[in-house]
Amino acid sequence: MPTTKRAEPDACSLLDADHRQVKKLFKAYEDLTKSKAASASQRKRELAKEICAELTVHARIEEEIFYPAVRGALKETDLLDEAEVEHATAKDLIAQIQDATEVDDMFDAKVTVLGEYIDHHVKEERNEMFVKARAARGLDLVGMREELAARKEELMAELSSAIA
Ligand SMILES: [Fe+2]
Ligand SMILES: [Fe+2]
Repeated sequence: MPTTKRAEPDACSLLDADHRQVKKLFKAYEDLTKSKAASASQRKRELAKEICAELTVHARIEEEIFYPAVRGALKETDLLDEAEVEHATAKDLIAQIQDATEVDDMFDAKVTVLGEYIDHHVKEERNEMFVKARAARGLDLVGMREELAARKEELMAELSSAIA
């Protein structure tokens, strides 16, 4: 019998998969900022839309399900307070990107700054919050994964029907 213990997929690994997915989108956007192709603007607009949608849904499932559960399980809640403040700031930038009419240098700047900001936020979740959540007693992170996945699916469907 192999004795190496592999981590079971849990709420944190689901959230981190979202983080990696959105990181890819930011990278694709960054590559496009170096392109002179006429189609770059259109593609940038699409990518920005996708980034904003992904982040909006991700923030919602964290705020509705993950953060409150972690807050209830940890003694020190500064990390949670900071994460919520960071979400508010990110939402403000997301709104600016969604409201922008032109895909110009300022648009690029907003997407770039959002990407840097999310990088910072993700590092704190991955290296601090998830570590503490996994070490906390009485948190069913494996069970929570299902709940997050179901809510994510619901929100994604809402979002795409709102756009259509
Ligand atoms: Fe977050
Ligand atoms: Fe996150």
